Amino acid sequence: MDDKALQHRYKDLKQQIHFHNHRYHVLDAPVTSDAEYDKLVVELRQIETGHPDWVTPDSPSQRAGAGPSEKFEKVRHPRPILSLANAFGAEDARAWYERVRKLDDRVEKAGFVVEPKIDGLSVVLHYRDGVFVEGASRGDGEVGEDITANLRTVRAIPLKIPVIQGLGDKELGNRGQGNQESRTVRSSKIPDSLVPDYLVVRGEVFIPVKDFDKLNKRLEENGEKTYLNPRNTAAGSLRQLDPAITASRPLTLLVYQIVYWENNSQSPPEPRAQWELLEYLRALGFPVTDVARRFDDIESAIAYTVTWDKRRDELPYEADGMVIKIDDLNLATEMGFVGKDPRGAIAFKFPAREVTTKLLGIEVEVGRTGVLTPKAVLEPVEINGVIVKNATLHNFDYIAEKDIRPGDRVLVKRAGEVIPYVIGPVMDLRSGAENPYAPPSACPACGQPAEHFEGEVAWYCVNAACPAQLVRNVEHFVSRGAMDITGLGIKIVEKLIETGLVKDVADIYTLKQEDILAAVTKKDRKTEAAPPGKIADNLLTAIEKSRRQPLSRLITALGIHGVGEVSAADLSRHFPSLDLLAAASGDLLQMVDGVGPNIAEAIVDWFSRERNHNVLEKLKAAGVWPQSSAVNGPSSTGALTGLTFVVTGTLAGFSREGVKEFIESHGGKVTDSVSKNTSFLVFGEAPESKVKKSQKLGVKIIGKEELRQMCV
Ligand code: IVH
Repeated sequence: MDDKALQHRYKDLKQQIHFHNHRYHVLDAPVTSDAEYDKLVVELRQIETGHPDWVTPDSPSQRAGAGPSEKFEKVRHPRPILSLANAFGAEDARAWYERVRKLDDRVEKAGFVVEPKIDGLSVVLHYRDGVFVEGASRGDGEVGEDITANLRTVRAIPLKIPVIQGLGDKELGNRGQGNQESRTVRSSKIPDSLVPDYLVVRGEVFIPVKDFDKLNKRLEENGEKTYLNPRNTAAGSLRQLDPAITASRPLTLLVYQIVYWENNSQSPPEPRAQWELLEYLRALGFPVTDVARRFDDIESAIAYTVTWDKRRDELPYEADGMVIKIDDLNLATEMGFVGKDPRGAIAFKFPAREVTTKLLGIEVEVGRTGVLTPKAVLEPVEINGVIVKNATLHNFDYIAEKDIRPGDRVLVKRAGEVIPYVIGPVMDLRSGAENPYAPPSACPACGQPAEHFEGEVAWYCVNAACPAQLVRNVEHFVSRGAMDITGLGIKIVEKLIETGLVKDVADIYTLKQEDILAAVTKKDRKTEAAPPGKIADNLLTAIEKSRRQPLSRLITALGIHGVGEVSAADLSRHFPSLDLLAAASGDLLQMVDGVGPNIAEAIVDWFSRERNHNVLEKLKAAGVWPQSSAVNGPSSTGALTGLTFVVTGTLAGFSREGVKEFIESHGGKVTDSVSKNTSFLVFGEAPESKVKKSQKLGVKIIGKEELRQMCV
């Protein structure tokens, strides 16, 4: 970029950051994520470092935030409420350390305190003679808003310090213990004389994640609109003109700084180390984090910080990073600041989890069972090093409830292993041209009408011959946990279905080399390392190999609703072939571990469908008919062969018929009355005469579980 273009970019950046600052700090309605904002600031700072002569007093780097809103009285802070420079990773943190060490080598011996960087709202609390007299928001760092009445409703804020401490459990009862984080230490007593005449502390007001979830659940149950995230909700709560509304929100606080200290008598002295300061504030009765640690050297401080990057979900609040602070506060103060960022501390940011982007459209996918699922098509955006182009929208009710519209700017979250999902639209950025989204009236793949069942959220395509469902079926059939046919990728499957060569999963076993060659698209030929002939050969070998997969794999591959790898393995242990599984009643199926009434019903339903019958016939004809050797059918020998049972009483969740069938399928014999030939009395709930007789004859009485155990 030449200087002219760069200057242009600089101006553009300043405008953008001003805009976002205003949205975030004044209106409490951000339209961008922290990560995107941080990126703009980093770029601006870079330009400014290269061209210090360009920096104007109106640059966002020259102030921490935007002006306060007019709704509340203004409060001038006794000292500037500073912000923090960011470090994105360990290298950045080391670079910060090197910079400050070069400025003053006492840094080497000063020690470091690491604290969580809570994603809440900075507040400034004033105490005169130990009484809470004023509370302000941060505003632009110089002047904030008087939100005393609202802050008074936050229970974690002590109204008088020191909080009476050291009471025994009896006097305290169990009241007000709260979570670990907001609990105050009651062990040490601080005399009133240890409170300065005038004390101003700074902390972070926030909503704990659990409370936020509870709040949203309650709103959802009442059919009300839910909140987007804890930070926005906390911000909105503090800006209420009516403190009663603030009081109804689960706000809490953690403090971490003394902004101002004034004392006329000689004691107490102001804490001059961060660690000591935290201890002191804690002892006064302020809520102070339990996560803070002190370290002698920077590497240990960074190592601790990094562990919390992985464990951030364990924190009861949302944290967007950790703060590394030079422990020696005299030294830290002496080092001064750059713009509004003190040199003595650095914010070590965790990778972002939420970003905003444009919702380009909503696509509908057809699942294996015909369920229609909406999928967000997004303007590609980076979250945590991954480019996200799609995100889940859960279901059509979710879209309606959040009023998500194509064309909206949406907040997208990607955390840990969770699939990216759309949190909701940024309402303030609507142009008015966005139309509400209506669920599809027809299946996007086959055009048949979509159906909705009573009491269910999902919409379905009930057309059994729907090609999209078939693609998903085949995909599942060949997947690794099922028949494991490598090389049968989605593109080839789609082509085979399109040309009519595959009409159901059984058709895979009659494919010929020329069929596969025709289905390997030009694109595949290019990208694949192997020539098409080789691809076809490999695929035929994989198909051939899959014929020898055990029964449990084939049961999994059928894709019966609710039957995963574990239930399939259990089923194959009890039913040695698909013929026997197909013939099993719901009651008998429920005798299998992990099979409840719903799965049993789904299995019976699956085998009752003509289309599935045909598939099974074709599989059998193709020789894909594995038998399991674990147990045997009714006529052969099994785990219960040679044993005679009498079944009595009601067995919770099972019919007597089912239990009888189960015994017989494992080779046992069932009779009606107890005799000396009876091996076991399978006993349910109600005691009967048979129990007495068994006891007399010495016949062992067992329950359903023991019977099951005998067969595994
Ligand atoms: S120290 C000079 N410590 O993060 C002191 N800030 O830009 C500067 N924050 O606006 C702040 N937790 O609201 C500090 N343990 C913590 C913090 C923390 C959250 C916020 C604070 C500030 C922002 C940094």
